Amino acid sequence: MTFAELWRELEPLGRDPGTGGYRRYSWTPADTECRAWFTRRAEALGLAVEPDRNGNLWAWWGPSGPRRPGAVVTGSHLDSVPDGGGYDGALGVASALAAVEELKARSFSPERAIAIAVMTEEEGGRFRVACLGSRLMTGAIVPDAARALSDDDGVTLAAAMTAAGADPSRLGPDEDLLGSVGAFVELHVEQGRALAPMGAAVGLAKGIWPHGRWRLGFGGRADHAGTARLADRKDPMLPYARTVLAARRAAADNGALATIGKVIAEPGGANGICSSVTAWLDARAPDEARLEKTVTAVRSASMRYSAECGVTLSVRQESYTPPVRFDEALRDRITDVLAAAGMEAPVLSTGAGHDAGFLAARVPAAMLFVRNPTGVSHSPAEHADLPDCETGVHALALVLEDLAARP
Ligand code: GLV
Ligand code: MN
Ligand code: MN
Repeated sequence: MTFAELWRELEPLGRDPGTGGYRRYSWTPADTECRAWFTRRAEALGLAVEPDRNGNLWAWWGPSGPRRPGAVVTGSHLDSVPDGGGYDGALGVASALAAVEELKARSFSPERAIAIAVMTEEEGGRFRVACLGSRLMTGAIVPDAARALSDDDGVTLAAAMTAAGADPSRLGPDEDLLGSVGAFVELHVEQGRALAPMGAAVGLAKGIWPHGRWRLGFGGRADHAGTARLADRKDPMLPYARTVLAARRAAADNGALATIGKVIAEPGGANGICSSVTAWLDARAPDEARLEKTVTAVRSASMRYSAECGVTLSVRQESYTPPVRFDEALRDRITDVLAAAGMEAPVLSTGAGHDAGFLAARVPAAMLFVRNPTGVSHSPAEHADLPDCETGVHALALVLEDLAARP
């Protein structure tokens, strides 16, 4: 199947007809559909598909088999943020299948095993810890803590996995599998707009900014919107609103990014003062010092505002991702492979998190970016042009071929 054919099959899965955005949350029926699609397509290519102990899917192309070291692994994720774009993650998975198809069509015979990995809960869209599958695999999160994570409806990861037919008791570091990986190369849609002005269809990742998520809980007192005097209120909406502005200011002051993109106001009556507001701060910066300064500024502003409004405040870090620098030797090798095929791939840093970042702590890892003409991502407006996607597939095929050609 060509990339375009694969894409046509995958495109409708998990898409909300109202918004056009994707709601592919892990361990839901939409996720199950995506996994089934991947399994079907990988098996049609002759790959052997098996889940690992953390719920990630691996599709293997011999000859060495999964327990021999040195496998060349590509792939990405199929889950999405709420109303996410179709390309984030899915492009890397569909491109991996198409790249293997291209290599098979050329009768390429790999000396190293090649595998396509589909990582679970990369976005943290359901359980709020990003890159959960690769965190678990590399030991970056304690299995018990992962099992106890719960979604907005109070369903734990363990319960969600069980309901989807997976076994949560085996979650944890996977040294055998990690030991079999020689290199990991993730193809991903560009998030941001650096390649378009450079006239490049593909790019390579240099590193990932450190980033994290913090949950801010503002506790007030529910009251009547029409009778409670302003001076008597304990309205958690007030410190919350001022904290949104403080986050924006702290980011600007520190050359960082800070976003409050999710908020739950309870009980949520239009004619009532809230009893509580829960907001999630996402903060990212080029280095950890600036990230720390940004988060500290937001935290102290929210403490001050809460005290002024008679509101309680709790702040909890839900996830943290240290800075990532991708393997230079692998990147140089990929640059040479692409240059030999006439493709120039500029090197970019990104503020977006990726499973390749967690795997980079344990194995040589690299990322290929496919041009995003508008730069928009985490949005139904996210897009990549088909010819660029096809260039990405070809680039990935060349890279896999080069890496897997020698034992
Ligand atoms: C994942 O896309 C993230 O950076 O939040
Ligand atoms: Mn994403
Ligand atoms: Mn992604």
